Amino acid sequence: MQAMKKFFIQTFGCQMNVYDGQRIAAMLTKHGFSQTQNLADADIIILNTCAVREKATNKVFSALGRVRRAKKPDALFGIVGCVAREAGGSAFKRIPDLNFVLGPQSYHKLPEILKNPETKLLNIDLTGLEKFDELPQIEKSPAVAYIPIQEGCNHCCTYCIVPYTRGRELSRPFKDVLKDTKHASETGAVEICFLGQNVNGYKYTDSDGKTYRLSDLIKETAKLDTIKRIRFTSSYPTEMTDDLIEMFKEEPKLLPFLNMPIQSGSQNVLTRMNRPYSLDLYIDIVDKLKSARPDIQISSDFIVGFPGETDEDFEQTMEIAKRVRYINSYSFKYSPRPHTAAALMKDQIPESIKADRLAKLDSLLNDIQREFNESCIGKTMECLCEGPDKTGKHLVYRTPYMQQCIVNGTTQEAKTLVKINITAANKASLRGKIVTD
Ligand code: SAH
Ligand code: F3S
Repeated sequence: MQAMKKFFIQTFGCQMNVYDGQRIAAMLTKHGFSQTQNLADADIIILNTCAVREKATNKVFSALGRVRRAKKPDALFGIVGCVAREAGGSAFKRIPDLNFVLGPQSYHKLPEILKNPETKLLNIDLTGLEKFDELPQIEKSPAVAYIPIQEGCNHCCTYCIVPYTRGRELSRPFKDVLKDTKHASETGAVEICFLGQNVNGYKYTDSDGKTYRLSDLIKETAKLDTIKRIRFTSSYPTEMTDDLIEMFKEEPKLLPFLNMPIQSGSQNVLTRMNRPYSLDLYIDIVDKLKSARPDIQISSDFIVGFPGETDEDFEQTMEIAKRVRYINSYSFKYSPRPHTAAALMKDQIPESIKADRLAKLDSLLNDIQREFNESCIGKTMECLCEGPDKTGKHLVYRTPYMQQCIVNGTTQEAKTLVKINITAANKASLRGKIVTD
């Protein structure tokens, strides 16, 4: 009997890539492959890539070097995702023995290379979402099911390569998304996280002319008994429409936690980033969210060292972080990207200043996170069990605010929700005891 063929996949970057990686794995499994963690064993090797910052792209090309040295001589190898889209055919010039280059909307074309391993397969088309129909479903859902509802972005922030690599915004049909949430709920999901580069811009009009928004998806999903928690990421501030804000008041399954990146606290920088909301408007939206759900917490992404950012601009970013008291946030040094307007702007900021500002902002965000974590001591929160930690002596739980909470013992089953009383906290995590009543 012939040995079973094996595939190796390494995923870089965002949750959307993690999801895509799972669907690609499901497809290869259906084609008779089994997954291996060992490069040297694999018959097909896939790097599922991210291009959002220069460092991310560099990582992919150095990983490709490793693959070429370690792989079996006749193994097929290629890149999929955002670097594939960005590099296109030039990837074959850079690495002549590469077999395939597939953009984020073309994963379902992968079997073509299995049929014709002698050819070079290139597809970076971004005009449709057929991949969702053509790729087989993930068989067994993890406790948290990430479900893409739209892809691409029409906002065109001047620093961002995503509109180029993922294309213009496309929303998936309402019924298809609900089919996926139902499938996830029937195969083990307890929490649904809707995904999109501009997730709250979701808008789908069906053949009867009825338009559905993210709030409709939340309402329908909340009706599924096994689904206990719902969230979504990433949101664009000015698309937080009233119907969506209302959901935080009306739908208890929607977690009181929202990722709504502000990027910068300086009006001048925001304008040059082409994020044309005023700070007053942003604060208004935060206030509305807080009146809908008083216990809501907000997280943000920040970019420091955008071209032309002055010390004063940066101080304004520090101020807004203190004012909103963001938890669980991400901060990045500005990285010039191909195909973006900001890369051509004058007054690029020296690396040392970017590093300095990032350290200051990170230190502030860490302090705020620690204070928030400490404010949870004594409270009881319903948390989702993720399973044992590395030591095997504790269980790891996720709070409604995505904090990690560690509990002694290993008897609880993964995927269950339990009430935990928080007993201690530091910057990185909480400790707690299960409430038995
Ligand atoms: N709304 C999208 C954002 C994609 S990029 C989503 O979450 O899917 C994620 C974050 O990376 C952005 O919010 C931004 O803070 C950061 N980012 C994007 N382009 C960048 C660049 N050129 N340099 C540094 N950070 C960048
Ligand atoms: Fe990028 Fe701005 Fe869209 S950060 S993904 S262009 S909202």
